[in-house]
Amino acid sequence: MGRVALVTGGTRGIGAAISVALKEAGYTVAANYAGNDDAAKKFTDETGIQTFKWSVADYDACVAGIKAVEDALGPVEVLVNNAGITRDAMFHRMTPQQWHEVIDTNLTGVFNMTHPIWPGMRERKFGRVINISSINGQKGQAGQVNYSASKAGDLGMTKALAQEGARAGITVNAICPGYIGTEMVRAIDEKVLNEKIIPQIPVGRLGEPEEIARCVIFLASDDAGFISGSTVSANGAQFVV
Ligand SMILES: NC(=O)c1ccc[n+]([C@@H]2O[C@H](COP(=O)([O-])OP(=O)(O)OC[C@H]3O[C@@H](n4cnc5c(N)ncnc54)[C@H](OP(=O)(O)O)[C@@H]3O)[C@@H](O)[C@H]2O)c1
Repeated sequence: MGRVALVTGGTRGIGAAISVALKEAGYTVAANYAGNDDAAKKFTDETGIQTFKWSVADYDACVAGIKAVEDALGPVEVLVNNAGITRDAMFHRMTPQQWHEVIDTNLTGVFNMTHPIWPGMRERKFGRVINISSINGQKGQAGQVNYSASKAGDLGMTKALAQEGARAGITVNAICPGYIGTEMVRAIDEKVLNEKIIPQIPVGRLGEPEEIARCVIFLASDDAGFISGSTVSANGAQFVV
């Protein structure tokens, strides 16, 4: 059995591609999700990957969920914090609820998941934490003040935690995807995609979920042991930092 990898939001979109790539690379994978049971069942039927349901926004649920994963599969050595949501609105119309839901899931969710797993990684002197941030956490995006703040927060957390994990053999890195052709993005009106979005991407196409997954595979590997606190931009040169 390979190392145990836990992917939050691992049943759909980018997370599903990450779960599958980790399985293909020899990891024993657990995929977490929040509520879409049908998608989770379909994912398990197609991939054979076990799924576990809880919300990353709830600390106690994370502690219980991680225990269930570890009881079933063993200690989590690779954690991919991928679960994320949007609640878009221009700031003057944004409600406190829209703000809090996004921060609670995308930023506090990363704390809630990493905090219970961290002590075990420290004891075992090995760990990989990979946080899926976003191009919009790097550059900011109108209509996404909440999302941009949460994803920028993930980058700050990645950099600080990398320094704490360094002596314990734990690396912490972030990946910032640009526009990726998930169901959500492909559902955008084709005219808007072709005339507004794709022209902003110098490589002239959307990214594929598998292209993000391959970044995860590298960062999770033993070969990436000297890479920590870094931000990998995977955005087709749309935003160059
Ligand atoms: N798609 C893009 O172009 C893009 C670009 C940049 C960054 N990203 C980031 O990449 C990540 C994945 O995006 P995606 O487009 O693949 O998303 P997606 O297709 O909407 O899938 C989201 C996944 O996260 C899960 N999830 C949502 N809230 C959760 C919660 N509170 N607790 C546990 N799981 C939760 C969902 O579970 P259910 O199935 O149960 O709902 C689902 O499995 C996100 O962090 C997103 O911000 C995406």
